[in-house]
Amino acid sequence: MKGINDVNFAGKKVLVRVDFNVPVDENKKITDDTRIMEALPTINKLLKDGAAVILMAHFGRPKKGGFEPELSLKPVAEYLSGVLKKEVVFTQSIDFADIQALADKLQGGQVMMLENIRFYPEETKGDIELAKKLAALGDCYVNDAFGAAHREHSSTATIAQFFPNNKYFGLLMEHEIVNLKKLMTAPEKPFTAIIGGSKISSKIDVIKNLLPLVDNLIIGGGMSYTFAKANGKRIGRSICEDDKLQVALDLQEEAKKENVNLYLPVDILAGDGFSNDCNIKYFPEIDIPNEWEGMDAGEKTRQMFGEVILKSKTILWNGPVGVFEFENFAGGTNSIAKYIAQATDQGAFAAVGGGDSVSAIKKSGFADKISYISTGGGAMLEYLEGKTLPGIKAILD
Ligand code: 3PG
Repeated sequence: MKGINDVNFAGKKVLVRVDFNVPVDENKKITDDTRIMEALPTINKLLKDGAAVILMAHFGRPKKGGFEPELSLKPVAEYLSGVLKKEVVFTQSIDFADIQALADKLQGGQVMMLENIRFYPEETKGDIELAKKLAALGDCYVNDAFGAAHREHSSTATIAQFFPNNKYFGLLMEHEIVNLKKLMTAPEKPFTAIIGGSKISSKIDVIKNLLPLVDNLIIGGGMSYTFAKANGKRIGRSICEDDKLQVALDLQEEAKKENVNLYLPVDILAGDGFSNDCNIKYFPEIDIPNEWEGMDAGEKTRQMFGEVILKSKTILWNGPVGVFEFENFAGGTNSIAKYIAQATDQGAFAAVGGGDSVSAIKKSGFADKISYISTGGGAMLEYLEGKTLPGIKAILD
């Protein structure tokens, strides 16, 4: 792997693509700084070497073309300055003459950060001219933006061709790749995948790609009702993708062929509305009348899932098994987090990815027990689907 640890970057200007697409509240206060904190080892290593660090990142999905104040990376640059305890020179301007002038002045040990790279509409097209202008700012390129590695953009992929002999993976990126490879190439058995979330449509390719690898597949959360309906059960008002009923049947057939044990919820906590304070009713079987909506896994299901998890040596979790953002329906998802933590205490390797499952595991207080928590949402899913990520390929080419 072309990592940064074997190189001394003293005296170099290093362009680093990071993924600082962090959640913020209405006052632009960062509500989860994981992606920033996870990029620090790379930034600190480069600074320690005496390099000048030029950070490129995106924030949200600007549509207008040009500067949009509400999508400025300024609050992120200020936050980074606080955690690094040093000035972060923020370019503000998106004019390349201004940016180049600032980059030229940058000294070893200093950090500079560009405005939201998606203020250039060319970025998401993977435009070579934009990549060239960015490349002109530095001597080397480091990609540490795993969360954006599935995007073939100017700053994540195209730019790498301007650095044929001095492009590298950052430490975060290296960590993600090593762990994902471990999961997908030589998992210790039994291997259990827990796939949840509201929609089966976004997970079909992941499930298909995992079936030849796993011993157990646990399906939970909103997507399980599509399976339940396909299996002839009454699901009331529960979320369901009616156009995916056949897909659910096919996946079950495929699981059988691959000798994978497939586990679906057997009991349910339902609500009479989609809110934390709705009336709650327990259904001991998946037989939910019209006025009720499945919201969380029941106790029997939690125990059944838990027994499987505790017998596993490798665990992958993507997607909650209930509406965990409502406290009254977070029990099932929290129990998954608790069982995974217990399994890792017994020596299992556990990987958690996807925005919702990561915030669930953090909320549950078990995050520090997990072997590997991915900073990538879509990027991790695409890796699990077996796709080649452009951001990774560009460094390896
Ligand atoms: C993410 O938040 O998943 C990444 O930063 C990618 O963002 P995007 O989906 O807007 O490309």
